[in-house]
Amino acid sequence: MTWGAWGRKFSTKAAAELIQNCVALGLKSFDHADIYGGYTTEAEFGQAFKASGIAREDIIHISKCGIQMPCDARPLAVKHYDYSKDHILTSAENSLRHLQTDYLDVLLLHRPSPLIQVEEITAAFSQLKSSGKVKSFGVSNFTPTQIQYLQKEVDLDWNQIECSLSHNQPMFDGSLDFHLTQNIGSMAWSPLGNYFKEESPAKKRVQPLLQELCISYNASEDQLLLAWLLQHPAHIHPVLGTTRLERLSASVAAEKLTLSLTDWFRLLEAQWGHEVP
Ligand SMILES: NC(=O)c1ccc[n+]([C@@H]2O[C@H](COP(=O)([O-])OP(=O)(O)OC[C@H]3O[C@@H](n4cnc5c(N)ncnc54)[C@H](OP(=O)(O)O)[C@@H]3O)[C@@H](O)[C@H]2O)c1
Repeated sequence: MTWGAWGRKFSTKAAAELIQNCVALGLKSFDHADIYGGYTTEAEFGQAFKASGIAREDIIHISKCGIQMPCDARPLAVKHYDYSKDHILTSAENSLRHLQTDYLDVLLLHRPSPLIQVEEITAAFSQLKSSGKVKSFGVSNFTPTQIQYLQKEVDLDWNQIECSLSHNQPMFDGSLDFHLTQNIGSMAWSPLGNYFKEESPAKKRVQPLLQELCISYNASEDQLLLAWLLQHPAHIHPVLGTTRLERLSASVAAEKLTLSLTDWFRLLEAQWGHEVP
């Protein structure tokens, strides 16, 4: 999301090097969306990927569609969601062309729309699947009941939701349990929550504890926040937001960290500001 206009504005060369370094670290899945960078970042990534010399089959492209956002590329009257068959097909074709690839590994519906029509989704997904243009499908930010409505007709393999220590509701509102029972993979966006993004009363409580745990686990704050998330039995796939190689490298190492049961709950208690009931 932040490789291009919405963040670092990498040159093709810098992005190609970062792709090479990610793959060398074992980070092979790249999370895109048509709208990132005001509909510009996928094409920049496609150019950088070509320059990286990495084989297409060695990486996974995830993309998303459905948000219609007014910007230079699209002078729309209002931001809205479009899940018509035609829009999904056009958006997927655009992503393929921009990423310079024949297929997407995963296509997600970016945000739930009250006007979503299951027949339109079914028609679009079956055409993309049978043509080999998309291997698997999912949603993002959908609730269990919104997924159930689509699941009657469509196979969904993923739901990408906001989930972290600071946004831990999916661990308690049935979202992650639902994914587990339905064999839906869980991806977490903003896996570090708002810890590095804003000051808050919760952060004031979490920070001293996290800093104490950094010493006992010989780890950094971001590694411990990821380890906390990875400990959930839903086998959450964190969608890492950083574009800094040293932080990406540290994130990979977080997979080997295991918090004690009591430290896991100490962090939850610090986040909530009270003990579990
Ligand atoms: N499906 C959706 O609706 C949706 C919504 C939002 C995002 N996403 C996806 O999720 C991805 C991740 O989102 P996110 O960027 O919010 O995730 P994140 O990984 O939780 O947050 C990354 C932020 O934390 C900072 N950070 C990381 N480690 C740090 C450290 N040790 N010290 C200080 N700052 C640190 C990063 O800064 P630096 O970049 O400077 O390292 C960055 O600003 C996005 O890129 C996008 O692909 C999806």
